[in-house]
Amino acid sequence: MELTHSYRKPGQTIVTLAITGASGAALAAEALRALEADARVARVHLVASPSALRVLAEETGISGRIDLAEKLAGHPCPKVLQHAHEDVGAAIASGSYPIDAMIVIPCSMGTLAGIAHGLASNLIERAADVCLKERRKLVLCVRETPLNLIHLRNMTAVAEAGATVFPVVPAFYAKPQSMEEMVRTYVQRVLAHIGLEQSDAYVWGSE
Ligand SMILES: Cc1cc2nc3c(=O)[nH]c(=O)nc-3n(C[C@H](O)[C@H](O)[C@H](O)COP(=O)(O)O)c2cc1C
Repeated sequence: MELTHSYRKPGQTIVTLAITGASGAALAAEALRALEADARVARVHLVASPSALRVLAEETGISGRIDLAEKLAGHPCPKVLQHAHEDVGAAIASGSYPIDAMIVIPCSMGTLAGIAHGLASNLIERAADVCLKERRKLVLCVRETPLNLIHLRNMTAVAEAGATVFPVVPAFYAKPQSMEEMVRTYVQRVLAHIGLEQSDAYVWGSE
């Protein structure tokens, strides 16, 4: 067990980044790169579900969970600590560990359902459950279309419990010129939501 004060400077943030099996591997990669590069971030706890690995292979060609952060970011990620999906004994599974925020990006309807119903049957669901009980920021970047009534009810349930439902929907008014720009703008909005505003983010009406 590492001591948080050994790597966390005053004011620095500790974030959990969870990747599930919804479409949107590029969003996870962009979020990981941004968190790793951000001097305000001390530690990133990374968890990917088996389905996330399946989708990552499909969308990016990345295979396996060994050194996943490095593969996603394209360079070494010394701030990132990766945990096994089934390891409900990891630090982030306990409310005593000082996480500031958790982002599930992308968030599948399956994981949304698990969180909405408090299943805590894997590390992603458990860490999210802990964020809700400890009143910490939990951002769920849900992706599915169209949405059925079960999806909608589960989104209502998590929102009532304190999570932010942050659907993967691009901002067309920013006039993105590429998919990369669209992905970056979306991820920057997510990071701003947990207090990590990005200096180069698109801001409507700025001079
Ligand atoms: C290529 C691919 C794309 C998928 N896209 C989505 C999606 O956008 N949203 C979603 O809810 N599920 C999607 N799924 C299905 C989930 O991966 C599946 O429901 C899985 O059980 C979710 O498990 P997890 O929440 O533990 O990651 C996709 C599956 C594959 C193989």
